[in-house]
Amino acid sequence: MTSGEIREQFLDFFKNKGHRIVASSPVVPYDDPTLLFTNAGMNQFKDVFLGTGTREYNRAANTQKCIRVSGKHNDLEEVGYDTYHHTFFEMLGNWSFGDYYKKEAISWAWELLTDVWKLPKERLWATVYETDNEAFNFWKTVTDIKHDHILKFGEKDNFWEMGETGPCGPCSEIHINLLEDYDNPIYVNMGSPVCIEIWNLVFIQNFRDADGKLHDLPAKHVDTGMGFERICRVLQKESSNYKTDIFSPMIKVIQSLSGVKYNKMETIVPINVIADHIRTLTFAIGD
Ligand code: ALA
Repeated sequence: MTSGEIREQFLDFFKNKGHRIVASSPVVPYDDPTLLFTNAGMNQFKDVFLGTGTREYNRAANTQKCIRVSGKHNDLEEVGYDTYHHTFFEMLGNWSFGDYYKKEAISWAWELLTDVWKLPKERLWATVYETDNEAFNFWKTVTDIKHDHILKFGEKDNFWEMGETGPCGPCSEIHINLLEDYDNPIYVNMGSPVCIEIWNLVFIQNFRDADGKLHDLPAKHVDTGMGFERICRVLQKESSNYKTDIFSPMIKVIQSLSGVKYNKMETIVPINVIADHIRTLTFAIGD
């Protein structure tokens, strides 16, 4: 399956569940002084979550251009050295604006991953926020995930915030363990390149103000984000995001222009960095 087909299948899946497919916003958030770059698909809907804006639809999905090089979500140091972090990436997302909530978000994510894309259920793990028994129980009742593959984590891993201030809430992540030892919980959230988070389902119900205080929002929303380059790597059965059809044409050109082969750590890392940064610069300058 090509990356183009994977993107289309994601959008079609949510279109069939009544979502409006919307365009990505620019990587430069012109109207939000709290962010240097767009770091998540939900940025363009911040006003809806805060109750200060509305849209003519209450379900949306898209693929969002994101840059994570500074602030709360900063992946810069990992880029090139590991196989799955990028300064620029596409985030596949679906949203509910005061419409469906945890049950549907969890059940549809599971349906797409295991029914449509046929990912091996025994390799999937779900994490939930330590006090979120509701999400924990939905994983048990609306999916057929192995019950001991549902794990609880604290604020660092399972409470998502867009920045120092803004909409936020408990989240439930889906990880895939590609190791032989795939039934072992110790790899989840350990930074292993072969046990990685692929999708984050955020239940937006709070707002953090400039003094760091948390408030309840007037309504409850869903904000999800799946790493497009990561899901392509998984579905294309590659060992690195850089080996998918998203990056491999660029890596070919970098090798031929530089005369350097992509065959050992000393050359793989810099070539990954160049391929990654070219995308970031292209979209940052373009937008
Ligand atoms: N906004 C959530 C994230 O970026 C989905 O992980």
